[in-house]
Amino acid sequence: MTATVTSTSAQPALAGITFPDGFIWGAATASYQIEGAAREDGRGPSIWDTFSRTPGRVYRGHTGDVACDHYHRYPDDVALMADLGLKSYRFSVAWPRIQPDGSGPVNVRGLDFYDRLTDELLGKGIDPVVTLYHWDLPQTLEDRGGWPNRETAEAFADYAEIVYARLGDRVGTWTTLNEPWCSAYLGYGSGVHAPGRQEPAAALTAVHHLLLGHGLAARALRSAGARNVSITLNPAVVFPVDPDSAADRDAARIIDGLSNRIFFDPLLKGEYPADVLEHIARFTDLSYIKDGDLETINAPIDVLGINFYQPAYVSAKPGTPASLDQPGSEGIAYRAPDGPVTDMNWLIEPASLTSLLKRIHEDYPGTPVMITENGAAYPEGPGADGEVHDTRRVEYLDGHLRACHDALAAGVDLRGYFVWSLMDNFEWAEGYRKRFGVVHVDYATQQRTLKDSAKWYREVIRRNGIAA
Ligand code: NOJ
Repeated sequence: MTATVTSTSAQPALAGITFPDGFIWGAATASYQIEGAAREDGRGPSIWDTFSRTPGRVYRGHTGDVACDHYHRYPDDVALMADLGLKSYRFSVAWPRIQPDGSGPVNVRGLDFYDRLTDELLGKGIDPVVTLYHWDLPQTLEDRGGWPNRETAEAFADYAEIVYARLGDRVGTWTTLNEPWCSAYLGYGSGVHAPGRQEPAAALTAVHHLLLGHGLAARALRSAGARNVSITLNPAVVFPVDPDSAADRDAARIIDGLSNRIFFDPLLKGEYPADVLEHIARFTDLSYIKDGDLETINAPIDVLGINFYQPAYVSAKPGTPASLDQPGSEGIAYRAPDGPVTDMNWLIEPASLTSLLKRIHEDYPGTPVMITENGAAYPEGPGADGEVHDTRRVEYLDGHLRACHDALAAGVDLRGYFVWSLMDNFEWAEGYRKRFGVVHVDYATQQRTLKDSAKWYREVIRRNGIAA
């Protein structure tokens, strides 16, 4: 796959760019963030239902009870996707709709919904990409210990098989987990996400069981006939604040190990990095890693999903307590963003996406990659003219698409790009106050309005690139 630059100018940043033929242009969402219908058609409670109802956990007590009401409005939403010219749509399946108790009996009405959605997409020529786990763990499984309990990994593989049996004849790409870093470290480390536990050792155990769940599910999917199996990670692109300082470079190595290599290496090389094991053995006994697990985790994948938003800069700072969402990070300080930021206070630095993609290409050769999420939160809504002029989002996306193109030009096997998100939605602990959509949602009326970014993206898709 080769990238072509179709025009040049004195200002390369403004030159037009074209992507390879067949490049997949998509948009992504996740079940709890958009569906609503939290108690309909036999859906069981998830850890996010519980968490969002716990006072103080989510901004102003927002919940996903109604969200974008996509469960009822999916035909209109799919029509909107078709209007944008999307080639593909990445959505997640809510496990508690399929198995309300996380294991055991299947709720057919839950499967029916995803069946209808899949057919609606295919009817409009949009290829569905299914994520099996985007954080809405059935509450019953959390009551039995959650991801720190090995049985959750086994239950996940059963659930994957159930969904595949219903949709496998029409869905090509299967993603097991979305951002296991968040499930483990935010869910069980800092507790900023559901289930809200603050247990560093449990967070590390959760990392392993999430990986194991992926491996068991990947194996089950493959033996049931799946041809395109993937997992989506959100690597921290970590740089030393002072590249000339050996201590800062070491700090970056440690964070890279705890955040990134702890996932990449088992998945793609079948081993945990020795330095990471040595580091975490100080506060967890590693007995949860059983014989054969790494072989299971190392199940072949066909494409690696990458979610990218911002880089991280770290320095060695003795005495700094470990960041709760990164157990083992004591003595390391994260630099506050020192440049332009989005509404999440996340640093905007597209070139670091190119570095990340090149690094994956070099360190894990032969791994095709797909950007399964990239986007920015900005608050703009409809103005007096009824339009949403989200210029900064267009700039953010433009910069990151150029960064993807640079990676392609450097030889990275990048297959596609999914904007996060199709529409504004429930932004986890931030509730509805952060808006990532290229489509605006008025939560009082459920009206959808294309933002300027959606119209810009439609043009990108039509041209298969960005105009000069
Ligand atoms: C990654 C997550 O997968 C998605 O659910 C979330 O909304 C975005 N990041 C933005 O924070």
